[in-house]
Amino acid sequence: MYFPLLANIMVLLFTFCTAYADNAVHLDKKNLPMGCATCHYKANLKSGGGSVACITCHGAKQRKVLAHKMPKGAVVSRSDLKDIEAEFGKTFRHPTFDAPGRHSQNEILPEVDPKVLRHADCVDCHHPHFVTKENRFAGVKGKRVVNQTVAASREAEVCYRCHGDSVNLPGKYTNKRIEFSLNNPSFHPVEGEGRNSAVISLIRPYHEKKVAAADVSVISCSDCHGNDEINGPKGVHGSRFRYILKDNFDASDNISESPQAYALCYRCHSRTSILGNESFKYHSLHINGTSFSRMGTSCFTCHNSHGSTDYKYLIKFNRSVVSPNARALLKFVEKGTSKFSGECYLTCHGVEHNPKSY
Ligand code: HEC
Ligand code: HEC
Ligand code: HEC
Ligand code: HEC
Ligand code: HEC
Ligand code: HEC
Ligand code: HEC
Repeated sequence: MYFPLLANIMVLLFTFCTAYADNAVHLDKKNLPMGCATCHYKANLKSGGGSVACITCHGAKQRKVLAHKMPKGAVVSRSDLKDIEAEFGKTFRHPTFDAPGRHSQNEILPEVDPKVLRHADCVDCHHPHFVTKENRFAGVKGKRVVNQTVAASREAEVCYRCHGDSVNLPGKYTNKRIEFSLNNPSFHPVEGEGRNSAVISLIRPYHEKKVAAADVSVISCSDCHGNDEINGPKGVHGSRFRYILKDNFDASDNISESPQAYALCYRCHSRTSILGNESFKYHSLHINGTSFSRMGTSCFTCHNSHGSTDYKYLIKFNRSVVSPNARALLKFVEKGTSKFSGECYLTCHGVEHNPKSY
């Protein structure tokens, strides 16, 4: 059964509450001939059907069997619609289908209640009423300003809804909004251009500052996190690489270096430059190790991938590998800007740094 009255009330509410863009893909009758009723139908009248409704069109072909949850003729069968559902079958993925039924239309994000279970539905990242081909995050509530949430204008703001100030962030994770803050001594340039003007390993078009039109000096979460398949659908849905990364990144200790081990970093930082010690003169010593009995260590032992609240050069020691030295000191001291010179106070693999200088 279809409820015309309720539908009318919804349309009214909708027109009062929102001014939607003309290019909103789902409100275009050429895309969805049945309009609002495509998603707001029968048992899905209020909810819009959630993530399962989305994959009726954006999923595997056999999903069309779920079409009975939509009015006849609503499900578009277009060969150019990519299979997003398959991305969630990969080992590392957002828990969209692993933790269903937790999203609520009235929820406040970043979460304010520590007891609330975490989730990530399609609608948490894409608002079905506003999404356009140009802006897949259009209409998603982002920043909290005093007691109100306002629309996100950039991808990172969508991510901070759950990876920033959420009070239900699991203990092993850190606040990404703080890690990328422009006030930190160093950060990967997501919020704005970076602080270091001598990142000599950078591969063009990446550049410290935007000088020429082709230079890229600001990157996004999606430059590192997303689909492992270059030609697959874009987006941080799922990947066969850990942490839903686009390329492999090995974060462990006692490993051997290879183009694959740190493939993610080598997308933008020249492997030849790093292993050629162009900046830190002991890069190769640490990354390659010295022998079979003393193997190499990951970039992650010394660098945070996002930002450092303490030091320059993204230095943040991995405490499961690095410990304080005999004088109980654990710190990095820079000796002059862009001089490629500094001191480390720590113990690692039983080697005292008290300090060791370069
Ligand atoms: C592609 C599917 C889809 C289409 C088409 C669609 N909606 Fe929705 N709508 C949803 C989903 C999903 C939600 C729930 C959002 C959430 O849970 O945060 C929703 C929520 C709503 C709400 C609740 C308040 C809100 O805005 O979050 C209203 C009212 C609404 N839709 C009206 C409409 C009207 C009117 C139309 C046609 C102009 C329409 N919808 C078209 C999927 C759709
Ligand atoms: C009835 C089929 C249908 C349903 C249900 C549906 N979509 Fe779509 N969606 C489309 C079509 C058609 C397009 C336009 C694609 C194009 O023009 O290339 C689209 C475009 C998009 C885009 C823009 C990306 C692109 O390929 O241009 C996103 C993001 C998206 N949909 C997410 C969702 C989400 C999230 C839901 C569930 C709330 C949903 N869709 C439900 C059919 C559907
Ligand atoms: C609605 C909430 C939500 C939003 C928005 C969100 N995520 Fe997540 N994300 C999660 C949840 C839940 C997990 C599972 C682990 C957890 O609880 O943090 C997760 C996991 C991840 C992981 C994998 C962590 C691991 O240990 O493997 C990455 C990477 C990630 N998200 C990146 C992003 C990026 C980038 C964005 C923005 C495009 C984003 N997320 C937006 C909720 C969200
Ligand atoms: C320069 C590449 C790069 C960028 C840009 C990047 N990440 Fe990451 N991210 C990584 C790597 C590498 C890891 C795995 C190692 C680690 O935990 O730091 C990771 C891990 C994570 C994790 C899981 C572990 C943790 O540290 O909490 C989350 C969540 C995450 N990133 C979210 C984000 C969000 C949100 C953004 C954008 C605001 C972002 N990342 C931007 C490279 C990146
Ligand atoms: C954690 C956030 C997040 C979740 C959850 C999420 N997406 Fe996405 N999605 C993204 C990002 C990031 C992109 C890339 C946007 C861009 O680069 O323009 C994207 C892109 C897309 C695209 C366009 C792909 C392309 O290559 O054209 C579609 C369609 C889409 N998402 C649908 C969905 C559907 C359906 C779901 C739920 C089954 C979903 N998304 C869940 C973040 C998310
Ligand atoms: C033993 C600690 C250590 C390890 C392991 C390490 N680095 Fe570094 N790295 C440093 C230090 C210290 C600096 C700062 C040099 C300076 O004073 O400018 C640095 C600087 C850098 C810079 C900035 C300058 C430049 O060369 O462009 C990049 C990029 C970098 N490292 C990437 C990496 C990558 C990628 C890996 C893993 C393949 C890695 N590092 C492993 C300690 C380390
Ligand atoms: C998408 C491109 C991209 C990827 C992937 C990437 N970086 Fe960077 N990285 C940059 C850019 C751009 C800068 C320059 C920022 C600046 O000028 O301060 C930079 C700067 C750095 C710096 C110097 C920061 C400072 O303030 O001194 C280090 C260290 C670094 N990256 C390490 C890494 C490591 C380790 C990885 C892999 C986990 C990685 N990068 C992956 C683009 C990238």
